[in-house]
Amino acid sequence: MSATGEVQTKVGSVDGFESPRHVAIIMDGNGRWAAARGLPRVEGHRRGVEALRKTVRAANELGISFLTIFSFSSENWSRPPSEIRDLLRLLRRFIRNDLVDLHKNNIRVRVIGERDDLDPDIRRLLQEAEDLTRGNDGCTLVVAFNYGARQEIARAARRLATEVAEGRLKASDITPELLSRHLDAPDIPDPDVIIRTSGEQRLSNFLLWQSAYSELVFVPINWPDFDRAALEGAIAEYRRRERRFGGLIAQTGS
Ligand code: FPP
Repeated sequence: MSATGEVQTKVGSVDGFESPRHVAIIMDGNGRWAAARGLPRVEGHRRGVEALRKTVRAANELGISFLTIFSFSSENWSRPPSEIRDLLRLLRRFIRNDLVDLHKNNIRVRVIGERDDLDPDIRRLLQEAEDLTRGNDGCTLVVAFNYGARQEIARAARRLATEVAEGRLKASDITPELLSRHLDAPDIPDPDVIIRTSGEQRLSNFLLWQSAYSELVFVPINWPDFDRAALEGAIAEYRRRERRFGGLIAQTGS
């Protein structure tokens, strides 16, 4: 940890350029990928897990310090029960089968989202993944599971309200920085770039607070087709953007 409390990270590169520190991905289009091939939706999700494996490996090799993936949203509970069962089964399988490999590759796993209302076995698996990989200092894979940004901000507000009610904090001392420190993973820097696949162009309740200055890159392929080349392409697009953070001095993408 640095003096500011942020995790210190290694710097990697793509084609000799420094990689963005934090890449977040909305993995969209599994259903459309499957429909286009006359396959059941679950096949799209299965192939989505394979794309995820490739992407995590590539992110680690490219020296990306944080990779956040939107794996199950607070709103996904409104899908048909059979699809919810399939997605939960894939998550269980991903952690059971891939955790050892992730650990071997020095990847740290973190989880954001609401855990209290999850099945105890899923809660245990998520905790086990975090505990086993806690000491790793390669890429941090942040799994947004049962995650919604508005819900996360409401959780932070509740934590602050509790501190005020207990007399440990004055309401007038609440600043954006303090609210940031009450989010689910306060030590992780904001994403430099958020990538969404499938051509849809919206954030869908993903990292709304943290994306204030993130570059948004929308790629027209469905998630199961995403791979290292697509990741490098999205990073190249990010690099072409000027990041001004509300000021006047232009900064090129890192
Ligand atoms: C969007 O496709 C994707 C999801 C709802 C979940 C993403 C899940 C995976 C990549 C597999 C599971 C991985 C883990 C770690 C649980 P969609 O179904 O919304 O596609 P559509 O918009 O084309 O219907």
